[in-house]
Amino acid sequence: MIKIETKNVDFFYGKFQALKDISIQIEDKSVVAFIGPSGCGKSTFLRLMNRMNDLIPDTRLEGEVLIDDINIYGKDVVVDELRKNVGMVFQKPNPFPKSIFDNVAYGLRVNGVSDKEFISHRVEETLKGAALWNEVKDKLKKSAFELSGGQQQRLCIARAMAVSPSVLLMDEPAQH
Ligand SMILES: Nc1ncnc2c1ncn2[C@@H]1O[C@H](COP(=O)(O)OP(=O)(O)OP(=O)(O)O)[C@@H](O)[C@H]1O
Ligand SMILES: [Mg+2]
Repeated sequence: MIKIETKNVDFFYGKFQALKDISIQIEDKSVVAFIGPSGCGKSTFLRLMNRMNDLIPDTRLEGEVLIDDINIYGKDVVVDELRKNVGMVFQKPNPFPKSIFDNVAYGLRVNGVSDKEFISHRVEETLKGAALWNEVKDKLKKSAFELSGGQQQRLCIARAMAVSPSVLLMDEPAQH
């Protein structure tokens, strides 16, 4: 089954064309890495898949990006829903100014989950999944900023995974 497909994607920052005619298919339940020199367009291409480039003024996309056979740039697409389903971890760790626990619980809470036991269970499960639990289990109430750079990045991975996205975009997440 094809999870993500791009068809003849061109992308422009103003007049500058950053992506040229990219057509790829990515299978469901697969891990795919894009490798290429600095500036070749890896981050630009990743950001297309959850419409993060929409936030950059004077940009233009041509072609199609489909996830689960739906054109994510179609009129009926709700961008918040898309981003819930297509999570992202950035190159630089960007924890929220909140406790370690609240960072991971954030996505669940904004999506209306209020069952405290469920949230606690999910926070533990995702912190274990991000290989951070043992380092933070005794200081969940502490600020996320007290963690090291690499720990903050693993926290951001846990935060992204907590809402069970069906796609996780990771832009050089292991730099630290
Ligand atoms: N916000 C922006 N405005 C204008 N040009 C941009 C913008 N972001 C990226 N670019 C340009 O688009 C091209 C692709 O950049 P991108 O960040 O996607 O590359 P990259 O492959 O992720 O590089 P790196 O490995 O250094 O992270 C580069 O030429 C870059 O200068
Ligand atoms: Mg990049």
